Amino acid sequence: MCGVVACRMPGAAAPFLVDALRLLEYRGYDSAGVAILTTAGTTVSSRTTHRVDTLERQLDALEQAGVTGALSGTGIGHTRWATHGAVTEANAHPHLDCTGRISIVHNGIIENAVELRAQLEAERHVFASEVDSEVVSHLIEHELRSGGGLREAVTAATGRMRGSWAVVALDAQSGALVAAAHRSPLLVARSEKGVFAASDINAIAQWVDLFQAMRDGDVVELGEQFAWTRAGTGVTPPPFVSSIWSGTSHGLAGHADFMGKEIEEQPETAARIIDELAPRIANGSLWAELQLPPFERVAVLGCGTSLNAGRVIANAFGSLGDVPNSSLIASEGQSAIVEPRTLVIALSQSGETADVLRAIDDLDLGTSALVALTNSDHSTLARRADSMLNCNAGPEIGVAATKTFVAQVITGVAMALSALAATRRIDREYARRQVDDLRRIPDLLAHAIAASQKAIPPLIDEIRDAQGYLFLGRGSGVVYAAEGALKLKELSYRWAEHYPAGELKHGPLALVEAGTPVVVIDSGDRRIESNIAEVSARGGRVIRIGGAGSTIPALGLSLGTPMPGGIDRWGPLESVVPLQILARELALALGRDVDKPRNLAKSVTVE
Ligand code: F6R
Repeated sequence: MCGVVACRMPGAAAPFLVDALRLLEYRGYDSAGVAILTTAGTTVSSRTTHRVDTLERQLDALEQAGVTGALSGTGIGHTRWATHGAVTEANAHPHLDCTGRISIVHNGIIENAVELRAQLEAERHVFASEVDSEVVSHLIEHELRSGGGLREAVTAATGRMRGSWAVVALDAQSGALVAAAHRSPLLVARSEKGVFAASDINAIAQWVDLFQAMRDGDVVELGEQFAWTRAGTGVTPPPFVSSIWSGTSHGLAGHADFMGKEIEEQPETAARIIDELAPRIANGSLWAELQLPPFERVAVLGCGTSLNAGRVIANAFGSLGDVPNSSLIASEGQSAIVEPRTLVIALSQSGETADVLRAIDDLDLGTSALVALTNSDHSTLARRADSMLNCNAGPEIGVAATKTFVAQVITGVAMALSALAATRRIDREYARRQVDDLRRIPDLLAHAIAASQKAIPPLIDEIRDAQGYLFLGRGSGVVYAAEGALKLKELSYRWAEHYPAGELKHGPLALVEAGTPVVVIDSGDRRIESNIAEVSARGGRVIRIGGAGSTIPALGLSLGTPMPGGIDRWGPLESVVPLQILARELALALGRDVDKPRNLAKSVTVE
């Protein structure tokens, strides 16, 4: 995880680094730090185990003390999600070499750090932290001793490293700034405002229109011109990509937090995506554009919320077109066997999740094809897949995935319908009727928001002190129950589990006692009534999400006009809204930071 940023600009670097780090904070918020070049040929560094706001105050204090008067427009910054070493200031980036000449920021894992550290310590390098990243600054220091500049030293240093890295190194002596990437995302860009590098385009989108995504092994010197090399030899630079979210507001726009904002953006996001995709669904052209081979079965893979979205899509392939389907937890991908002629759909909103990237590396695809469904078309996953479909959710800043789930489901279902129509598993007229149903989703989501905002806040007092929560569904509702339990766990830090409602009596019913909150997604299967009765008989507090008369009447059923095609194709998508709002309201009542839940980060680039 971690967020990396660097700049070389005419004005002061500090305000830019702080702004960019704020936008990268979702990648980790265990500590933050910057190193800025001074006009005297040294660097000033500031680090904190608190949030970026504290870092900004520290930098202001430095300025008031007169230190930053000599600072230049060149600097590097970092926001950390701890993997190696505790959350301490000593472990916070930037890390220095023994002399203070070299500062580095790093995202990734140096797998042979223990070995490298032992070698460097034997050569009398003194380490100041416990983190793997610190070997990078000392390796560069070591390589600089053989002559050559920073780019050569970074090339030689990274040549000795195993693992993954997005590194930017700053040389106080020459003022050089060099970036290196391998299996961790890093983008570089130049505009009239200056030269930039960042883990994520969102961090710098307000200053640049075009950027270049570094490829594995690239080393680039961020000077007047960019010098692109790999293993010391010049390489063709990657293409310029336009930053589609440049100018997009990253503010809260009056909302209390990003999660609340992103929940409310769902109807509009869904409408935009459906408008864009609809003309290409029933005629099969969306599928044709992907240029993928014929398939006999579908397998989805991903982690967390993306895996849940994948399961909805897999269910849609099955229920709409009788396509055999399966789902795969990416972190367990090493044991998976892909049958011939499988369409493998890898889902990841960031496109950088290490478990997903490892799984696609490990899979023996043979005659099967891999399509990426991601929110970032320049991501590593997008580049490695045979084809890519962008779910176009727009920037999602809250760590908990909300609108990207809805965007993935809609985009994936659209692809399923288009594939099924193109391969004549369903006829075009039937596909068109499904598209009509897709077009109803924005209204259903808007209705779900209104109903949930009314029904959920009064429930919170009653359930706030529960130590555990159960989520139940049946059929296509089960995966939404899974998503509800995941959201509640990550935001409230309380235990929550989901079960197919029928499984309750085979064990989990023992958990139910007086007052146990049991959230039931009632998507119309009449057998759920007896499962609800089993809970009520034991004094459980049933919170029914369903049609009119439910505790939370948020489903389309309550509009009196259920989807003509029935609910089983992609399940009650709007049920995710009350589940998100329930988790958020409970978390806020418990005093949690809903945008930055403890121990988590949005982009999980370690296995
Ligand atoms: C939950 C959540 C995580 C992510 C998971 C995969 O709210 O955000 O479970 O869904 O870490 O991340 P991506 O989609 O980036 O691969």
